[in-house]
Amino acid sequence: MNSPHTHRRVALVTGAAGELGRAICTRLCRDGLDLVAVDLNLDAAQGLLRTLHLEPGQRALAIQADLGDESSIIAMVAQAGAAFGRIDVVVNNAAVNHRGSIYDFDVAQWDHMLAVNLRGPALLCQKVAPYWQAQASGRVINIVSRCWVAGGPPAYVACKAGLVGLTRSMARELAPHNVTVNAIAPGLLPSAFTLDGRDAESFQRMADSSIGDTPLKRLTTPEDIANTTSFLASSDAAFITAEVIHVCGGSQLAPFGTR
Ligand SMILES: NC(=O)c1ccc[n+]([C@@H]2O[C@H](COP(=O)([O-])OP(=O)(O)OC[C@H]3O[C@@H](n4cnc5c(N)ncnc54)[C@H](O)[C@@H]3O)[C@@H](O)[C@H]2O)c1
Repeated sequence: MNSPHTHRRVALVTGAAGELGRAICTRLCRDGLDLVAVDLNLDAAQGLLRTLHLEPGQRALAIQADLGDESSIIAMVAQAGAAFGRIDVVVNNAAVNHRGSIYDFDVAQWDHMLAVNLRGPALLCQKVAPYWQAQASGRVINIVSRCWVAGGPPAYVACKAGLVGLTRSMARELAPHNVTVNAIAPGLLPSAFTLDGRDAESFQRMADSSIGDTPLKRLTTPEDIANTTSFLASSDAAFITAEVIHVCGGSQLAPFGTR
């Protein structure tokens, strides 16, 4: 919570208009942070802002950016910096998914996924790092997936396992400026991301299989992820860094798609 006598902390959330992004933004605003809601889809990000209940003096701004494009990231960070003068929390949540197995993946799709899902978070942190240096504090929360342990679609898993590696590397490199870097690994939940190209019946089969693999016997909810993001952004998590928190009911114990 922000005290009225100190500055208000600023959270920058990518993929803000998506299923998880909306819940994360809503929760961080409820915690009293100012918000930079970043998405490729500006209309949807602006729509999210209209649903937020802000306190007097609390601000939220939507910015369009493509995480796969360095110049777009530079422009977005400059716009956020000009509006708020500081950036405290970065939530790397945006991701794209193109399906393809090791037998048939498409090179352009592979490169697009790596650019948005892995290089994007690294570049965003690079561009925000001068703020953290000046502030002598910062938080990075990377949204990965429980499949980074178990395997699954190769490009997607390579991105998420890579993002865990990046989490650990950045935790070391950014620590001198009092920046913590952690990852959250969700289990399956319905979103544009997971429903894309699937009919209801095929999603249900995937959901049943996922619940079967989950000791706590349900799907992940956006609020599960928002709650953990709120904790990692809070002072209670000040001494946690380089960690991956699985928020998937224990399904990290099961191999991917065992049923
Ligand atoms: N849904 C799941 O089952 C699940 C499970 C594990 C992990 N995750 C991860 O959670 C995160 C959010 O997923 P979601 O389910 O909310 O997906 P979603 O499709 O609902 O949201 C993704 C958002 O990212 C935005 N986006 C896409 N490409 C972008 C780009 N190039 N630049 C900026 N923004 C871009 C989209 O416009 C969208 O608003 C992703 O990192 C995903 O890998 C999801």
